Amino acid sequence: MRFQDKVVFITGGAKGLGRAMAEAFLAEGASVAVNARNAESVNRFAEEFKEKKVLSFAADITSYEDMEKAAAKVWDAWGRVDVLINNAGIVNPLVPSEKIKKENFDMAIDVNLKGTFYVSQIFGRRMVEQGSGRIINMITQVALSGEKGFLPYAMSKAGLMVMTRNLASEWSRHGVTVVGVAPGFIAGGMNEGLIRKQAFVDFLSKKTPIGRMAKVEEITGLVLFLASPGAQYINGETIVVDGGMTGYTAEPLVDFIMAGKGK
Ligand SMILES: NC(=O)c1ccc[n+]([C@@H]2O[C@H](COP(=O)([O-])OP(=O)(O)OC[C@H]3O[C@@H](n4cnc5c(N)ncnc54)[C@H](OP(=O)(O)O)[C@@H]3O)[C@@H](O)[C@H]2O)c1
Repeated sequence: MRFQDKVVFITGGAKGLGRAMAEAFLAEGASVAVNARNAESVNRFAEEFKEKKVLSFAADITSYEDMEKAAAKVWDAWGRVDVLINNAGIVNPLVPSEKIKKENFDMAIDVNLKGTFYVSQIFGRRMVEQGSGRIINMITQVALSGEKGFLPYAMSKAGLMVMTRNLASEWSRHGVTVVGVAPGFIAGGMNEGLIRKQAFVDFLSKKTPIGRMAKVEEITGLVLFLASPGAQYINGETIVVDGGMTGYTAEPLVDFIMAGKGK
């Protein structure tokens, strides 16, 4: 039981990757609190794990007031939060940059960047007071490379890489360390719909040298390791877990030349 008596708060933890993380932390003895906007999925989470130590909140991370209330309730119930996972996030509708709608750009910035910072501030302030804490920010490989269609998502998540470094340098002396995780395409979570179609799985698999999408447990395993005492010296860094996708070119120029296609 690696997380016995530890308290973990996972934003967006009622479904997708966040829910998988919640389950993994619960299995390791942690008390786990989650939030999400959709009350139905929050209630379903509470029902599903009612035998375990869980709290759940229908709260939007863009509401400072609601997140303050949620944090206060967790401290009232359990007296501390050891790990905050900033997992809640949205991807924009995929369109070329010249066609991005203002409301979609604003929404990505509001949720992924502003909401995540304000949650970090709400929890970080209390963690600084308690003299310990670990914050793990879910970022994305797209934040490193940029990709046509993903601009608002990539920009907002790239901001979280800077936030990770900045908060680590400010709060570590108070016992609060911060780290980021930047996955490539995962076979789960927000890709649940896409992966039902084999053509998408094949397409996304070809984008990585390893030849497949990430398994959900390959991400949750890393998150649990980063939350553990043995990983505390990893601080301010964003760990890329993308099967080698960053910098990978599916069709290298040299292969084109050597195949004589340039003649
Ligand atoms: N899946 C991937 O391939 C992948 C790759 C790289 C990075 N990531 C990152 O990993 C994280 C989890 O992704 P996922 O695939 O599990 O996505 P998901 O299945 O869409 O889950 C996202 C969760 O965040 C919640 N959420 C969204 N906006 C929120 C808000 N404003 N306030 C509170 N909760 C909110 C959602 O619940 P409600 O809708 O009910 O609010 C949901 O529980 C995200 O930050 C994502 O960017 C995912």
